[in-house]
Amino acid sequence: MLSYIIDGGKKLEGTVSISGSKNASLPIIAGTILSGKISKLYNIPNIDDIQITLKILKMLGCRIKKNNNKIEIDTSRMNKKEIPEDMMRRMRSTVVMAGAIIGRFKEAVFSYPGGCEIGARPIDLHLNAFKKLGINIEEKAGFIYCKCDKIIGTEIDLDFPSVGATENIILATVLSEGTTTITNAAMEPEIVDLAKFLNKMGSKIQGAGTNVIKITGVKNLKEVSYKVMPDRIEAGTFLCMVAATGGKVKILNAELEHITPIIHKLEECGCNISIEGKNIKLEAPKKLKCVDIKTMPYPGFPTDMQSIFGSMLTLAKGTSIVVENIFENRYKYISELKKMGSKIQLEGKTAIIKGVRRLNGTKVEATDLRGGAALVLAGLMSKGTTKVEQIQYIQRGYEKLEEKLQALGAKIIIKNT
Ligand code: EPZ
Repeated sequence: MLSYIIDGGKKLEGTVSISGSKNASLPIIAGTILSGKISKLYNIPNIDDIQITLKILKMLGCRIKKNNNKIEIDTSRMNKKEIPEDMMRRMRSTVVMAGAIIGRFKEAVFSYPGGCEIGARPIDLHLNAFKKLGINIEEKAGFIYCKCDKIIGTEIDLDFPSVGATENIILATVLSEGTTTITNAAMEPEIVDLAKFLNKMGSKIQGAGTNVIKITGVKNLKEVSYKVMPDRIEAGTFLCMVAATGGKVKILNAELEHITPIIHKLEECGCNISIEGKNIKLEAPKKLKCVDIKTMPYPGFPTDMQSIFGSMLTLAKGTSIVVENIFENRYKYISELKKMGSKIQLEGKTAIIKGVRRLNGTKVEATDLRGGAALVLAGLMSKGTTKVEQIQYIQRGYEKLEEKLQALGAKIIIKNT
């Protein structure tokens, strides 16, 4: 089992370059299924979630050429429409592959992605939308069989602005007949990136980034090259890690407009933030001030930053109130932070974080990707040594995390223990 061993208390200082976005790359890779041609993708992060997604495409008959962050995907010989069950279980986001497979082949078989460490992760919004598009859905023994003669555009109003459901509807309707209008659509930047990629392929998608998205079906798509947007959550993670250790950093390649809610909250904590072209500079105060956080769909404060920000606030001056409004089980990291000496009270979806003078390094266990990142941050700002176990959760979503942190002066190594 791999663990991070962190000697905390070091100020992080220097420059870090942000990798491509995991959550934009995954639906875009799924989108390559639609063309039946070659797609060349750039700035794809080298992380486990991407490897799993590419493995599934290979199992479905696609040909992949990968050279670090460049990937060439040829889906011309794709001949299978069933997403392997064990792969579905390993990664819930594979559900957006279903939309792309149905969009191209008018049939797909996949299993329930299953609940995970941050919540039940139901897919009712996806399936209800498929039914509205005329797709026949049968559920047998945990498998979902989707089939239709053709997909006819329609109006779909989402009960909740689900990122995955919005992506799945777009992927399922790019090659449909007629026009689909999604209302109460998710507005996340990853949806905008997916739409940009698909429109470059020849799709007709309007309104991505707003809560009304129109997809007019087209007959075929073309070969495309596309560079994926930077990872806004990685950018936020590094800003918080530097702020938590009282350091200073220059972040390269981040997209400022994607992280304004995070920037505003860091300024409220007393950080001095300046923008130099495409680069963001942060200088931390001696002691962070407490702030209140409420996670919301974009453009609100992102749920993926809740645990990382909450961990940073354990040493802030005063008491911070964090409310998690998106997922129902995203506080599992708190029991681990308490082992380090933090003072956090959980009341339903609210965490009351009372700042303490110091955290003490100890052994903790990651249970999900962002909760794991929160524990790394806690280790960086603790006195003594912290061992973060089960780091496979963290490696799913951060490219070269330990290398980037070492370059900022952190004492962090990976150990097989
Ligand atoms: C995407 O997950 C991201 N994952 C998540 O990032 C992110 O936290 C989330 O969007 C919210 O921003 C990827 O893009 C791969 P949702 P997704 O559908 O699509 C409920 C990370 O750490 N819901 O917007 O699964 C759901 O249970 C990951 O990188 C239904 O009830 O999120 C949740 O409470 C974690 N029915 C809420 O909506 C449905 O059919 C938001 O889910 C679908 C969702």
